Amino acid sequence: MARDTTDTLGAGTDTATPGEGDVVSNESLANLLREERRFAPPADLAAAANVKAEAYEQAKADRLGFWAEQARRLTWATEPTETLDWSNPPFAKWFADGELNVAYNCVDRHVEAGNGGRVAIHFEGEPGDSRAITYAELKDEVSRAANALLELGVRKGDRVAVYLPMIPEAVFAMLACARIGAAHSVVFGGFSADAIAARIADADAKVVITSDGGYRRGKPSALKPAVDDAVARFDTVEHVVVVRRTGQDIAWNDRDVWWHEVTGRQSAEHTPEAFDAEHPLFILYTSGTTGKPKGILHTSGGYLTQASYTHHAVFDLKPETDVYWCTADIGWVTGHSYIVYGPLSNGATQVLYEGTPDTPHQGRFWEIVQKYGVSLLYTAPTAIRTFMKWGDDIPAKFDLSSLRVLGSVGEPINPEAWMWYRENIGKGKCPIVDTWWQTETGAMMIAPLPGVTHTKPGSAQRALPGISATVVDDEGHEVPDGGGGYLVLTEPWPSMLRTIWGDDQRFLDTYWSRYEGKYFAGDGAKKDDDGDIWLLGRVDDVMLVSGHNISTTEVESALVSHPSVAEAAVVGAADETTGQAIVAFVILRGTAAESDDLVAQLRNHVGSALGPIAKPKRVLPVAELPKTRSGKIMRRLLRDIAENRELGDVSTLTDSSVMDLIQTKLPSAS
Ligand code: WT7
Repeated sequence: MARDTTDTLGAGTDTATPGEGDVVSNESLANLLREERRFAPPADLAAAANVKAEAYEQAKADRLGFWAEQARRLTWATEPTETLDWSNPPFAKWFADGELNVAYNCVDRHVEAGNGGRVAIHFEGEPGDSRAITYAELKDEVSRAANALLELGVRKGDRVAVYLPMIPEAVFAMLACARIGAAHSVVFGGFSADAIAARIADADAKVVITSDGGYRRGKPSALKPAVDDAVARFDTVEHVVVVRRTGQDIAWNDRDVWWHEVTGRQSAEHTPEAFDAEHPLFILYTSGTTGKPKGILHTSGGYLTQASYTHHAVFDLKPETDVYWCTADIGWVTGHSYIVYGPLSNGATQVLYEGTPDTPHQGRFWEIVQKYGVSLLYTAPTAIRTFMKWGDDIPAKFDLSSLRVLGSVGEPINPEAWMWYRENIGKGKCPIVDTWWQTETGAMMIAPLPGVTHTKPGSAQRALPGISATVVDDEGHEVPDGGGGYLVLTEPWPSMLRTIWGDDQRFLDTYWSRYEGKYFAGDGAKKDDDGDIWLLGRVDDVMLVSGHNISTTEVESALVSHPSVAEAAVVGAADETTGQAIVAFVILRGTAAESDDLVAQLRNHVGSALGPIAKPKRVLPVAELPKTRSGKIMRRLLRDIAENRELGDVSTLTDSSVMDLIQTKLPSAS
C-alpha cells in the first residue's frame, strides 16, 4: 500500500505523480468514517507517560521553543543558541551554531552516566546464536571501528557505503562513520550489484563495508559477490571491509580487508570530535519517478533531536526497564532512526534480529518477544497481515505479557489488521501507535501518543507536538473536517531532509513546487469529523473509475474485513468503458476454499462496504503477492498482469516465481 522503495537504477517505481481531482469519492469517505471504535490509553500508562497532553499546547504556543527544549535532550559540545534558520527556504538549518558528535550521544554519554553495564543490543542470529552487547562494549566496538576507518584513510566529509545483514557490525559501522564525521550510505542487503553500483557512484563512496553473507531462511546467503561486481566498475573505491558472518567461501581482492583484522588491531579509545549541527550524517536512497534513486540527505543535530524525542514520546521508552524491538532492516530509514539513532540516543535496551519471521518456525517473533521480555514492539502492517494469515494459534503459544506498546509503520494499517494486532499480540491492553513518516521526514510526524490519544483502528490521527501537517485540495486549500485530498507539511521540522544529494533542483521540484511554501508528501489523506488524519497510500495508488476516485487502500481494507481474506492488493487496470477497472488480488485464509461463489461474495462484500462503484471488476485468488524485501507490494507488476502486459523489472522481488504463480491464474479470471 505504499511506494516501492527498492528499485534499482532504471526500474520503474510507484512514487507520486499527483492525479487530478479529489483523492476519494464522498461515498467511500463516508464509509471509512464509519469506523467508530475508540481505545483509551491504559490508566497506568497514561499516569506515568513520558509525554502528556500538555506537550501539544506547549508546542503550539511556541513551536521553536519546544524544539529548542527537545534539542537539550542531547549532549552538545557547543550548545546551540539558534533554533531554525529558514532564511533560504526550503533549505533549512536547525541548531546551526551548535556542535555535537552523534555517536557520542548514542554511546559514550550513557557510559559516562554510569550505564555502561546496561545491554544496548541483544543480538539474535537467525541460526539461534546470540550475543548481548552492553553500552561499554558498544563504545569499544565503535571506537575500534572508527580508528579502523581512519587507518583506511576515511576522513570527515567522506562517504562510506554499508551493505550488511542485520548483525551488530551494521550498527558499529554506522556509528563509527558518525563518530568520525563520514556520511554513511546504507544499501539494503537484498539489493543487486547494479543497485549498489548506482549508490556508490552517486555518493562517490570511498570505502564499502560488507560481509561474506548473512543467514536468511535457514541458509547462508552471500553478500560479497554483489559488492565485488559493483566495486569492480570503479577505481574510486579504495577498500572493501568484510565482516565474517557465515564463513562461506568468498573471492578475495587486493582492496579487501577483514573487519576483524582491521578493527582488531585498533585501540578501543577514540576521542569523538564535535561537528556542526548541519554536518551530513547519512544519505539514504529512495525511489523516484524517473528511475534514478534519490539520495536523501540527513544532517546531525536536528535529525538526532527528532529521532530521539519521537522515540521517547511515541514508544514511552523507560530505558531502565523497557526492552524495545524494531523488526525493520537497517537498510531502511526505520532501521536508521528507530534501531540506531533514536533508541541508542535514549539509552534503550533493544533486540536486533538477523532473520526472517518464519525460520525455523512461524512463531519465531513471539518466541523472541518471550525470550527477551520485549515490551515495545515496532513492526509493519505487511508483517501483521502475514501473522494473521498464519493463524491466531501461533502467537497464542507464547508468553507475550511483557508487551506494553505496539507500533506500526510503512503503509496504512487496515482496521482489520489493527484489531488483530491489538487483540492477538497486545491482548487488548497495549496502545497501538500507527506512525506516519517517510525517508524524507527522517523521523515520525503523525502518530498517537500512547498515554494520551484515544486511538482509532486505521488512523495515524494527528501530527506530533511541534509538527504541522494537514490535508489540502488540488489548489492547496486546507480541506474541512470530513474532507479528502493530499497530505502536506506546513512548517519545517528538525529531521527534515536537507536536499537530494547532488541535486537541489530535484529536491525543489519533487517536494516544494506543487504547493507554495508547503512540503508535498505524495500521500493521499483525509480528515475525519474530529480532524484526525487517515492516510490513504501514495497518490498514484488512487484509481479513477467512471470518474470516481477510489483509493486502493479502502478497497483492500474492505476485502481484508471479509473472514475469508488474509491479504489483498488492488490495482486499477485500463478499461474501455470505465477508464480504470478495479482488479483485486487476494490471498485466502487457510480455511477458505477458492470458488466462483466466493469470488462473487467478495465482490459483493466490497460493493456493500464501499458502494457499488468500488466493486472490483475482477477478484483473483492467488497464493502470494509480489513484494519487495521491505514488504511493499509491487503494484506496477500487478498492473502489468491486470493489463495483460509483459512484466516489467522483477529483480527487486523477494521471490520472482511468485509472478509465474499469479499468471497461471489469469484464464480463470472472473
Ligand atoms: C511512505 C514512505 C516511514 C518509514 C518506512 C517507509 C507510507 C509509512 C505509514 C503509515 C500510512 C505510511 C507512506 C509514505 N507510510 N508509514 N503509518 N500510514 N502510510 O519509508 O520508504 O520512505 O515510505 O510509506 O506512503 O509516504 P519510505
